[in-house]
Parts: sequence; structure tokens; C-alpha cells
Amino acid sequence: MPVLPIALMGANVLKRRAVEVTDFKDSLLRGLVDDMLETMDAAEGVGLAAPQVSVSKRIVIFYVPAARNEGIEIPLTIMFNPVIKPLKKTREDGWEACLSVPGLIGEVSRYTAISYRYQDITGAIIECEAEGFHARVVQHECDHLDGILYPMRMKDMSTLAFVDVLNSEVGQPSGSELQKSMSE
Ligand code: NI
Repeated sequence: MPVLPIALMGANVLKRRAVEVTDFKDSLLRGLVDDMLETMDAAEGVGLAAPQVSVSKRIVIFYVPAARNEGIEIPLTIMFNPVIKPLKKTREDGWEACLSVPGLIGEVSRYTAISYRYQDITGAIIECEAEGFHARVVQHECDHLDGILYPMRMKDMSTLAFVDVLNSEVGQPSGSELQKSMSE
């Protein structure tokens, strides 16, 4: 189970629409997911989409620790062919970072509450709802499947910053706060 190299902004695989997974009996699928899990762990990310490891398939993994999500842990989730629906029109700005855009963070507006459905590794359909940071992670990851990186969602590019620089500026969110926005 190797740690895979992460595709960085500019790579074509991050720009295209990834294709649906249809063959849930494919013996390579589990190996790919294992490699993605190992890669996400090694990078200390909270989420990873298959295009980020140069595989143009609609696969996302994420894990939201309780400390990041108002005390509610979202267990490790492995999603195939996820589809998102906003539950409210309300949106909220929040810091995001991305393993494919290393060193940078920026403020992105996301829906505060969504429902999402996906297939698990057996192909069974699962439906969930998410709020807050959990909802943000799912939206960020699913964007990867459509060739969208978070800077493309930013309305105020003046918030795009190198995290190290922002950490050293007085009056900015603390380092730990920014670290918490890492890295999807
Ligand atoms: Ni990302």
C-alpha cells in the first residue's frame, strides 16, 4: 500500500470531470481506496479525491475529527459517485486549504447545510446530511470530481494567502485555527 504522489494545481487530471465508478466488483478498487487512505493519512489531510492521486474517477474519502466539527466526529467515509444537494440557501465563508494547492489558504463561501448521496464500496446507496465543517469538506471534495479547486470558488482573492505568512501576521487568525482548516 504505497503513499501516492499528489497532483498539484495545473495538472490536467485536476481540471477534468472524473468518471463514474460503475464496476464495484473491480478488484483494483479496494487497493486504490487503501492507497488513498494511506496518502491522506501521510499528508494529514481530512479529505482526498481520486483525481488528486491522478485517478480520474468519482471517489472521495474524508474523515472529520470531533475537534473540527463542534464536537461531532464524522467517521471515515468512502464515497463513490457522490451527489450533493443544498438544504438551505445559506452560505458561510470559511478558510480552506487543499493538498493540491500546498502552502496556501483562502476564504471560500459554501452552503452551510447539504444532503448528499453516494454509493459505498459494495455499490449500495447511502444518504446523509451535513452541516458546518462537515458540509464544507464534502463540497470541497466533490468539487475535485468536477475539475474545480477552491481558488476557483473564491469571491475575495485578497484572502488568498501563504499560511506561513498569515501565521506570522498580527491580528490574523491564530496558527492553530488556520491549521484546523487544513487540508482537503
Ligand atoms: Ni482539495
